Amino acid sequence: MKISIEEASKILYKGGVIAIPTETVYGLAADATNEKAIAKIFQIKNRPADNPLICHFHSFEEAKRFLLHYPKYVEQLVNLFSPGPVSYLLPLKMPSPLHAATRGSSHVIIRIPMHEILLKLMKNISFPLAAPSANTSGKFSATTAEMVEADLGNKIDGVLDGGASKFGLESTILDCRKNDEVKILRPGAIGKEDIEWCLRNTTVTVTEESSFGITTPGSKYKHYSPVTPLTSIHTSSEISIQNNFAVIGLAEDLNKFSFTGKHKLISLGSENNLHEVASNLYRKMFELDSLHVEQAYFIKRDFGNSAIGKAISNRLLHMLSS
Ligand code: TXA
Ligand code: MG
Repeated sequence: MKISIEEASKILYKGGVIAIPTETVYGLAADATNEKAIAKIFQIKNRPADNPLICHFHSFEEAKRFLLHYPKYVEQLVNLFSPGPVSYLLPLKMPSPLHAATRGSSHVIIRIPMHEILLKLMKNISFPLAAPSANTSGKFSATTAEMVEADLGNKIDGVLDGGASKFGLESTILDCRKNDEVKILRPGAIGKEDIEWCLRNTTVTVTEESSFGITTPGSKYKHYSPVTPLTSIHTSSEISIQNNFAVIGLAEDLNKFSFTGKHKLISLGSENNLHEVASNLYRKMFELDSLHVEQAYFIKRDFGNSAIGKAISNRLLHMLSS
């Protein structure tokens, strides 16, 4: 059920759970300080109880009230990247009203989202929003209101429709626990070079999780997968079934091969526009699941070393390793 900003804030004050649009992916949101509301998020998503939730704030000023301290460079990062698709892992002032959202951790991941409708909603409420991505645990994230409705529509108190998410992939998560190092825990649209540029006048080093996000907090759990079995191939000759399959890939790769038998081709977009590929990715997985084919194949390719290329590779790695 689609709801207005006014309805959304009323539901949140009553401890309800709604889907919210953000510039990355849709979130499943509740009052981050309301234990019962947080419990509902875990139930709705079927999320493992030890997997903490990102907390969303209208501004960094508001987030500060909850923090024990933060390294000085965080202000520089916030000034450049927030509101926007970046999240920061920081120490919490304990005891914390956010304890249910962080599952008792002494650290919290904060984000200041950049979406006009969401920022309007957040102006109307006096608490932060805990919001994991709006999908059943293990599945790819929703990037449109329709995707949320199809997955969780009958379990939640409404969807605030803000159109298709601009980036289409989850935020870059930065570990800001150290004073002299920023570690990228989950790659996203903002990458290492962007962060290095932002901190160019400091001595802070920027590192990337060496295992490419596999050890990101919470990533011991399966992520981002479609229901349809998905395996990667290098050429069309690796396709082992005759009929009722789908092939996913970049437009250029789909054009390289010919496929026989009853099949569907799903193009993620062109290699010349990886931002578009990123914003299409989950919606195309949704499309794939609606086809109900027996098997899907992804034509493997190198997405390169740009921030968005690395973020796409990371999500595909999770999808394909399942
Ligand atoms: O773009 C995004 O970040 C979206 C939108 C809705 O904001 N949210 C999102 O949330 O992707 P989620 O829950 O799907 O992914 C957050 C990741 C999880 O792997 C979780 O384990 C980790 O961040 N996380 C959250 N809070 C944490 C904490 N306090 N300590 C360690 N890891 C945490
Ligand atoms: Mg998620």
